[in-house]
Amino acid sequence: MRAQVQDWAGRSIGLVPTMGALHAGHRSLITRAKAENEIVVVSIFVNPIQFGPGEDLARYPRPLEDDLEMLRALQVDAVYMPGADAMYPPGSSTRVVVGNVAEPLEGAARPGHFEGVATVVTKLLCAVRPHRAYFGQKDAQQVAVVTRLAADLDTGVEIVVCPIVREADGLAVSSRNVYLDPEERRQATSLSRALGAAAAAYRSGERDGVVLENLMRGVIEAQPLARLEYARVVDPGDFSSPGSLAVLAVRIGKTRLIDNHDLANPYPG
Ligand code: PAJ
Repeated sequence: MRAQVQDWAGRSIGLVPTMGALHAGHRSLITRAKAENEIVVVSIFVNPIQFGPGEDLARYPRPLEDDLEMLRALQVDAVYMPGADAMYPPGSSTRVVVGNVAEPLEGAARPGHFEGVATVVTKLLCAVRPHRAYFGQKDAQQVAVVTRLAADLDTGVEIVVCPIVREADGLAVSSRNVYLDPEERRQATSLSRALGAAAAAYRSGERDGVVLENLMRGVIEAQPLARLEYARVVDPGDFSSPGSLAVLAVRIGKTRLIDNHDLANPYPG
């Protein structure tokens, strides 16, 4: 990858890191990267170190041919697909630990997750040396973690955050949505409905975080197959002090879904 990058000296490079199973969310990042850079690199790497022991690493979808077809159609300049053995050869041991912003919520629910994300993103930035790197607001805390590391490690990379792409019924598009059976898929709309309810209350003046959280909890708990992990309204920079970002993690059956919305903005749809 580094040798290829040399050929592009002097041209602006945008990097879109992914784990494959590409969908409309990824496509929006790539389209934005193409609009803002001369060269676009998409990485596909299902990063083993960001998955916990009981998580879905083994069954994570890997539709490689479909992914490459989408990337060919979008005319990206390169697809970087390192093997796990190339990323983490025997003896490799360095890990990137971001600190406070990586600790609550997703960090608490998934120990080691953000250390894995921060480490692989740092390695991708080193390999590709992009001017800009593109991330989705869908993973809001990941955005905060990556923005922090890009600044703290003097990468000089501009982190560009792209809006959440949703299905027509509000469900945030995700590679993990394929795990949902039809009834679970119906109940999964409760996440976006909960955020919409919180946004409506916020718009009518409700600012009490606990009230907003309970409102979201009520919408989720009305679904028999849904189990709420957390519903919080936090500051989007540190993910712990009070703020206007509503964040949700919900299990629908065996599938864990996350979603979020900044209540200071009108809810889409
Ligand atoms: P992955 O889940 O494949 O997501 C790649 C990028 O697409 C992330 O920045 C994610 O926020 C964005 N994305 C996913 N669904 C989206 C949606 N509905 N709307 C907008 N953007 C969306 O996130 C990862 O991979 C990994 O953690 C990675 C950053 C690649 C590191 O391994």
